[in-house]
Amino acid sequence: MTQALYEKAMTAAQFIRSQWTFPIKAAVVLGSGLGAFAEQLDDRREMAYRHIPHFPVSTAEGHAGRLVLGWCQRIPVAVMQGRFHYYEGYTLEEVTFPIRVFGLLGIKTLILTNAAGGINRQFEPGSLMLIADHLNLMGANPLRGWNDARFGPRFPDMTMVYSKAYRDLAKREAAAMGLKLEEGVYVAVSGPSYETPAEIRMLRTLGADAVGMSTVPEAIVARHMGMDVLGLSLIANMAAGVLERPLDHREVLEMGERMSGVITAFLRRLVPRLVEPSLGESSG
Ligand code: HPA
Repeated sequence: MTQALYEKAMTAAQFIRSQWTFPIKAAVVLGSGLGAFAEQLDDRREMAYRHIPHFPVSTAEGHAGRLVLGWCQRIPVAVMQGRFHYYEGYTLEEVTFPIRVFGLLGIKTLILTNAAGGINRQFEPGSLMLIADHLNLMGANPLRGWNDARFGPRFPDMTMVYSKAYRDLAKREAAAMGLKLEEGVYVAVSGPSYETPAEIRMLRTLGADAVGMSTVPEAIVARHMGMDVLGLSLIANMAAGVLERPLDHREVLEMGERMSGVITAFLRRLVPRLVEPSLGESSG
């Protein structure tokens, strides 16, 4: 971490608060092709990343690159439509900068979504997987370097990165919606090349169920700051070598678009219940 990170994140947080004064309860990061959730917020206020002080600018296809503030079932939320990836050339400090800002805004609930490749043979394209745990094989950690104790401890615990209470809630709500929800281990790699079949066999042996190029740095930083995390992977394709055909990024975006409605409905149901667990007792 660099010395000025706290001040930069504070400047960005103050800017956001000056534009939208409501007490934001949850932040949602939308993965490839999953932008629709942001469109359904009430009384939206959109901010291009380039207008927020110190925010990096997104370059990946299928990523809009804006922060959308608005109300989801009467809960004030901040939604990232597009995220920053390590493979784009950003440092992990840049990749996780928005999470620092969310933490400084006092947001306690973080929902991370992504499109991932299915390693577990029980999965199929279009499956939804709750992230139970992760493997960080990016070869880097966002907390490397000087630690600013205002953010969190030098050696943060990672025993429970993905809140058990949130996972239980997600399973219950998925069941109530008749939505099939898998659960598994997400492995993060740096990309941008997709994996080889040999790498996928290795990752399966290591205990991974899905593979992707995001989420883990964000989850580590969120835990560093004491936020509670829910992780959700859309299995956009089967990982390399599982099926006898090559991978194509268009397929990933198309599956995102196809499943965007279902994921949006699920998130809209989930957000108020994660923020106020007592709501979970009622239906609707
Ligand atoms: N591998 C890595 N990242 C991905 C994949 C994949 O197969 N699909 C979507 N993101």
